[in-house]
Amino acid sequence: MDDAPARSDDKPLLQTLAGQEADRLPIWLMRQAGRYLPEYREVRAKAKDFIDFCFRPDLAAEATLQPLRRFDLDAAIVFSDILVVPLALGQKVWFEEGHGPRLEPIREPKDLEPLSTGNLEPKLAAVYQTLEAVAAELPAGKALIGFAGAPWTLASYMIEGQTSRDFARLKRFAYGQPEAFAHLLSLLAEAVARHLVAQVRAGAEVVQIFDSWAGVLPEPELKAWSLAPRAEIARRFREACPGVPVIAFPRGAGLSYAAFGDCGEFAALGLDTTLPLDWAAERLQPKAVVQGNLDPVKLLVGGTALAEGVDRILAALGPKRLIFNLGHGVLPETPPEHVGELVARIRGTRS
Ligand code: CP3
Repeated sequence: MDDAPARSDDKPLLQTLAGQEADRLPIWLMRQAGRYLPEYREVRAKAKDFIDFCFRPDLAAEATLQPLRRFDLDAAIVFSDILVVPLALGQKVWFEEGHGPRLEPIREPKDLEPLSTGNLEPKLAAVYQTLEAVAAELPAGKALIGFAGAPWTLASYMIEGQTSRDFARLKRFAYGQPEAFAHLLSLLAEAVARHLVAQVRAGAEVVQIFDSWAGVLPEPELKAWSLAPRAEIARRFREACPGVPVIAFPRGAGLSYAAFGDCGEFAALGLDTTLPLDWAAERLQPKAVVQGNLDPVKLLVGGTALAEGVDRILAALGPKRLIFNLGHGVLPETPPEHVGELVARIRGTRS
């Protein structure tokens, strides 16, 4: 990007996102805060439930900083969840232990009527307080990442009411009630854009938009329902926060990753585990910085599987225009020492 913020100066993640030569290869991990860390489980036990945890700035700031105390990572990602946005719009959201998120599902167009973006920022004030608390304590050289879910992935949870295997309810709603679905996507685009802007005002220096379920769509619908609302968010965001980089993570988008690169709205693309690296180097890296894409199970296994996985990514995509990350989040069974091994291997290759 041309208008790189001055504060990218001493932060490798921001340097790389600004298209500059970085002091070192930046690394952070999706879900770097989480159940694989014993200290996370300790803090989590202090909250009533997971939603309460997300809305307790003292606890959430602590969870955000924990991975940086253990590992030499280049960024902190605010501890929160994508589902705080549906919650702020007025939908009922809760987490069931051992099951994951549950929402009172939207089944028909009239269920959308109570949803509103009014008071969005006051309802999410705790997230911004978390960012302020983290920003005040962030060690030198580390960047602070804010995030939100993409409208398509948020709509999937809002309509299915939980994680789904085939997304049949979601797709039935989207194909069968196109006007109501378009209304939901535009409501979410506005909410997400505003939530990202508010995170930057509270201290986030980069934002990532997670579209975990982009990969279940046929190509035309992927462009209409995943890419288009996301590009719209990036445009709105850029007006309010010029120079702040946006990372898009359209998991499972396959060849459609090219359209995300070509649209020019994203400083970086988060690659999922399955994406062929040679293709990414040739087709995506000239258009955007790439981030990814180690299989989280290689991190869990450690040893040779981890070392070879890391080296393959570095050889194909490194060292420039690459942010090292996983292809999806850290799994709860991952031994924390393996994250240490991963960081050491990255630093050893290019110190
Ligand atoms: O460290 C980080 O990456 C920051 C925190 C973060 C969380 N969720 C915390 C969390 C981030 C960036 C997310 C994003 C998120 N949340 C996504 C997109 C990324 C992805 O994984 O595809 C999605 C789909 C969600 C919704 C969600 N939240 C699900 C499906 C689950 C249940 C699965 C699980 O791992 O339990 C959650 C819960 C959740 N969000 C946990 C954490 C640390 C685990 C909750 C716990 O402590 O029990």
